[in-house]
Amino acid sequence: MVAVTYELIKTCKQTGARLGRVHTPHGSFETPMFMPVGTLATVKTMSPEELERMGASIILSNTYHLWLRPGEDIVEEAGGLHKFMNWNGSILTDSGGFQVFSLSDLRQIEEEGVHFRNHISGEKLFLSPEKAMRIQNSLGADIMMAFDECPPYPADHDYMKKSVERTSRWAERCLEGHQRPDSQGLFGIIQGGEYEDLRRQSAKDLTSLDFPGYAVGGLSVGEPKDVMNRVLDFTTPLLPNDKPRYLMGVGSPDSLIDGSIRGIDMFDCVLPTRIARNGTCMTSQGRLVVRNAKFARDFRPIDEQCDCHTCRNYSRAYIRHLVKANETFGFRLTTYHNLYFLLKLMRQVREAIREDRLGDFREEFFEKYGFNKP
Ligand code: GUN
Ligand code: ZN
Repeated sequence: MVAVTYELIKTCKQTGARLGRVHTPHGSFETPMFMPVGTLATVKTMSPEELERMGASIILSNTYHLWLRPGEDIVEEAGGLHKFMNWNGSILTDSGGFQVFSLSDLRQIEEEGVHFRNHISGEKLFLSPEKAMRIQNSLGADIMMAFDECPPYPADHDYMKKSVERTSRWAERCLEGHQRPDSQGLFGIIQGGEYEDLRRQSAKDLTSLDFPGYAVGGLSVGEPKDVMNRVLDFTTPLLPNDKPRYLMGVGSPDSLIDGSIRGIDMFDCVLPTRIARNGTCMTSQGRLVVRNAKFARDFRPIDEQCDCHTCRNYSRAYIRHLVKANETFGFRLTTYHNLYFLLKLMRQVREAIREDRLGDFREEFFEKYGFNKP
């Protein structure tokens, strides 16, 4: 039995975007889909009940953070991540590969794995493909990610080639180390930076290993938007049609639409939750910085087009007051709205695919959001 499967429902005649459904041991969800990030087994400030109410069906959590605290043994003893955090929907765990590279200094990459320092205590640590699989097996997420290297941007071709080859060898070790393929699906991660030949090589290596899903990694690492779109243009056609495709670390509204148009099915990003905690909201008219003085007496909702719990009940003036006073409730209201906004955007993207009009939807959305302005 395969733990995670993909069903292609239809392709948008206007754009080629895919409407599909991913099945996991904790239910299924339609794609394209956005996954809220719950790094430490919580989507910051949100309860699982609130996540359910806003329409989230899959969330992401992190191997690296849960390994350091509280420790995957404690999560396993609790009965796994779903039970530990009381979330009954699907969960995907990232492998720790990316976090080792983004959070720690003094790392040393070897064939066996990566030596680095704990970003909190400074303690010496080591992570390898086998260890990343053991930890993720203990956490028990529906979808696990292969342990990869995500090089910084830009990286030269020579380095990237060596890195891609090592990531392919690590991917094989991940498949061998994975103990629970019947209850957890392991996704491979395509690397190769901006180089077409290396993306091709990475996709060839990984698809030959037959993972139940594939991620495009190494993007949203500081490259311009047109580089990301170009890389997706030549990378997604290299991936099998009958498996889900996940673009890692991407969550701005424009990139969610442009990624969907290029055949991506799943996305995650800390952006909506992170900017919410400094008082920035995503709206149908673009970003709104609610801390701004001009909202002191503005009793309209954050987004007049939004029907979320925050927008139906609270004003810009009130939320501005809370956020400025550092009141937790203010961050809860902005977080709820931002996540609702992206989940609703993905619902609209799926409807547009169903009706073969995602290209028109993109035009309208970009116009209102302000992306078409010079
Ligand atoms: N998150 C964002 N980008 C990446 C990536 O390239 N690899 C992994 N493992 N996680 C990511
Ligand atoms: Zn709202």
